[in-house]
Amino acid sequence: MNTEIIVALDFPSRKEAVAFLDRFQQPVYVKIGMELFYKEGPDIINIVKERGHKIFLDLKLHDIPNTVKSAMRNLASLGVDIVNVHAAGGKKMMAAAIEGLEEGKIDKRPLCIAVTQLTSTSPEMLKDELLIETELAKTAAHYALMAKEAGLDGVVCSVHEVRKISEACGEDFLKITPGIRPAGSAKNDQVRVATPSFAREQGSSFIVVGRPITQAGDPVKAYEEIAKELL
Ligand code: C5P
Repeated sequence: MNTEIIVALDFPSRKEAVAFLDRFQQPVYVKIGMELFYKEGPDIINIVKERGHKIFLDLKLHDIPNTVKSAMRNLASLGVDIVNVHAAGGKKMMAAAIEGLEEGKIDKRPLCIAVTQLTSTSPEMLKDELLIETELAKTAAHYALMAKEAGLDGVVCSVHEVRKISEACGEDFLKITPGIRPAGSAKNDQVRVATPSFAREQGSSFIVVGRPITQAGDPVKAYEEIAKELL
């Protein structure tokens, strides 16, 4: 399976995001997160789509099933390509997300991905704050399986978890992996990083790359070098 690049469009407003995208002649897959979406609203989706780019709208929904279903109906009607939810919302909530997406879709239903455990969750936090005694890796694998059973298309996970998730959920279950750094580039605040080629070897479906591209002197060249590494 091919590994595709998703560029994390982590900019404070449309001005910076559009200036960045206007450097690219070819369509790219971008991830729009809470910062940009909550600042600009649905307009930003139209702006990016008009330029021919695909969108992973990373809003990580987590609420009662009925609310998530209605919200997903509205997100699907924006014509985005990937959306996500927290697996911690449970199977009913995840199944409701799919129902909402089906109802609101324009042509194809957006893919729906689960967040298992945030990388900011530590084993101590899980035990002491959330009162969950099960080991972190085990909860992440269990959440992935639960997402698959609820009808979701994949998970966001670390490159280091890809193999385990493929074994549990199958090769076709999508694995979207952030924490990617080309050899020699700055880690920034990421802790466990992996190169694009390692992500491909492990079987990542999509790698999410932000600063190594967005902060590069020549973002198009940085993007193309990563694309070459994935071939
Ligand atoms: O700039 P960088 O490549 O570190 O950006 C990675 C992107 O992936 C950011 O948008 C970040 O919020 C997101 N992300 C992450 N780790 C996760 C989930 C999402 O870095 N576990």
